[in-house]
Amino acid sequence: MLFLFLLSSFVFKGNADTIGLNVSAGPKQNYTFPKDFLFGVSTAALQIEGAWDADGKGESIWDHLVHVQNPKFAKDGSTPDVAADSYHNYKRDAEMVHELGVNIYRFSISWPRIMPKGLKNDINQKGLEYYRNLLMELEKYNVTAMVVMYHWDLPQALQEMGGWTNENIVDYFADYAKVLYDNYADKVKYWVTFNEPMQVCLEGYGNTYRAPKLNQTGFADYLCTHNLLKAHAKAYHIYNTTYRPTYGGQVAISLDSNWAEPKTESASDREAAERYLQFHLGWYTHPIYSAEGNYPAEMIRIIDEKSRQQNFSQSRLPKFTPEEIEYIKGTGDFFGLNHYTTYYLTMADKQVGAVPSHANDCGIVRFQNPKWPSKSSSNWLRVVPVGFRRLLKWVSNEYNNVSILVTENGFADFSGVHDAERVSYYGHYLNALLHSMYEDKTNVKGYCAWSLMDNWEWDDGLTSRFGLFLVDFKSPNKTRTPKDSAKMYAKVIKSRSLPDNFDPTDFSAFSSSNVLLPSVLTVVTLLSLT
Ligand SMILES: *[C@@H]1O[C@H](CO)[C@@H](O)[C@H](O)[C@H]1NC(C)=O
Ligand SMILES: *[C@@H]1O[C@H](CO)[C@@H](O)[C@H](O)[C@H]1NC(C)=O
Ligand SMILES: *[C@@H]1O[C@H](CO)[C@@H](O)[C@H](O)[C@H]1NC(C)=O
Ligand SMILES: *[C@@H]1O[C@H](CO)[C@@H](O)[C@H](O)[C@H]1NC(C)=O
Ligand SMILES: *[C@@H]1O[C@H](CO)[C@@H](O)[C@H](O)[C@H]1NC(C)=O
Ligand SMILES: *[C@@H]1O[C@H](CO)[C@@H](O)[C@H](O)[C@H]1NC(C)=O
Ligand SMILES: *[C@@H]1O[C@H](CO)[C@@H](O)[C@H](O)[C@H]1NC(C)=O
Repeated sequence: MLFLFLLSSFVFKGNADTIGLNVSAGPKQNYTFPKDFLFGVSTAALQIEGAWDADGKGESIWDHLVHVQNPKFAKDGSTPDVAADSYHNYKRDAEMVHELGVNIYRFSISWPRIMPKGLKNDINQKGLEYYRNLLMELEKYNVTAMVVMYHWDLPQALQEMGGWTNENIVDYFADYAKVLYDNYADKVKYWVTFNEPMQVCLEGYGNTYRAPKLNQTGFADYLCTHNLLKAHAKAYHIYNTTYRPTYGGQVAISLDSNWAEPKTESASDREAAERYLQFHLGWYTHPIYSAEGNYPAEMIRIIDEKSRQQNFSQSRLPKFTPEEIEYIKGTGDFFGLNHYTTYYLTMADKQVGAVPSHANDCGIVRFQNPKWPSKSSSNWLRVVPVGFRRLLKWVSNEYNNVSILVTENGFADFSGVHDAERVSYYGHYLNALLHSMYEDKTNVKGYCAWSLMDNWEWDDGLTSRFGLFLVDFKSPNKTRTPKDSAKMYAKVIKSRSLPDNFDPTDFSAFSSSNVLLPSVLTVVTLLSLT
């Protein structure tokens, strides 16, 4: 998960009162989680497994990034070479999942651990064995597996053939999906083709925040998304046609989205917020979940028009054929949503981003109110539970009350087992979820916390901790210890309700946040991400 940004401070001239959003999602109620509501917990292969070259595993684009491209990529200089060593500790991981009492463990499979060069002719039996062992361990505890096929770790050999910009990857990914179905369909109820494809394409191909750091925004990000959506649809259809009749599982995709709150009630600010959602979330979800399919109409119109003005011979946003639109439409059995925080949106009053770029195509500016509760190791992670509620409602309205599984949500700190901020964050965001279900009548079926344990958090290395279990990265066994939040989450699951002492007006856990000059809103903006 997660987003990186440039920290650019400038004076925001608006009146803070006009953007004084009440961050609480709603008053205390006695709402309870339905009996069939699914609770889960999520991880990702690269962030926890380690064993980066063990037993025949191939190099991934992240291994390549930290070993070859830029060994200083992570701010603490760490690599995911060992991480939480889940390759050797999977039995303890399954035990932790069991201790939480969750129904679902969402983990990802490393493509290069299964197919070292990404292709079907070379399959690594040791890799297959590792995930089968993990699945058997989960089965022992009656935990349902949700498997993510792609959480960003492409085999480097495929990157060298163009990665997601090479159209052949649609077939390579389909081959990989078939290997997974053939080996694990008997043990996996939920399949997620891609986790946060926007991080893959916008940040990895359009920018430099994720591997492979191509930095070709306005082109490679659109091309990457185009092929990725086709690969998703192909993997979906293969399951639907060949495996579903026997195994009856579900296939979907997990999308990351911030909530976009209009800076004011003006038509222009509301349009900016809507454009943000369509150019980020809708880019991926409109083709799959809307009734008409294809990219959002406004996105097509704007990029086609800009491309014309920029004298390109064709739009920088590739076109789907009518057959492809039909092929992609409807290929999600549920809507996987990852959510962490909220931004304000307004229209840019001057050119934003390089020309051309995704940011320039959007033409909007996003920022956060520094008065919003924070105190996170991730300074973009401000606590705005009402934004979660509004995002769930937006998704429901936009996609005909689609059934939603929240596949990631959580809070990062600098470490420690007494994690009052994370406990408070989960209370507030689960309160938002309950209000969403009971008052906004959204169709939310489940919730997976991010993350089961502390991990290698991409560019933040080992410094930013999202875990319910603390990992002692210095210990030889990467000892795991439950944090207060793990105990709190286990109690919520058991009681099907928020803790008795939860107070939706209490944000004091975040009170000593990195407060900025009171009259100057220091705007955290990721120009390339707006
Ligand atoms: C919740 O509270 C309302 C009114 O405060 C009450 O009518 C309802 O029965 C309560 N529900 C439960 C499950 O306790
Ligand atoms: C798993 O489910 C089976 C059948 O319902 C039950 O007998 C067993 O005790 C359960 N095991 C655990 C660890 O919960
Ligand atoms: C990425 O490309 C932009 C131009 O679009 C350039 O200004 C920037 O320096 C590049 N970043 C890196 C890290 O190469
Ligand atoms: C596109 O071409 C036209 C005609 O040659 C020229 O006037 C215009 O400045 C060009 N636009 C850009 C963005 O280069
Ligand atoms: C999945 O398969 C069923 C049964 O063949 C079919 O009715 C349905 O249209 C398929 N779904 C998609 C999205 O193609
Ligand atoms: C959405 O679906 C759920 C579950 O079927 C239902 O309870 C709810 O009323 C629906 N919401 C709307 C707005 O139709
Ligand atoms: C690490 O794990 C091994 C194997 O489970 C065990 O024998 C050893 O005692 C553990 N070491 C520590 C320091 O916990």
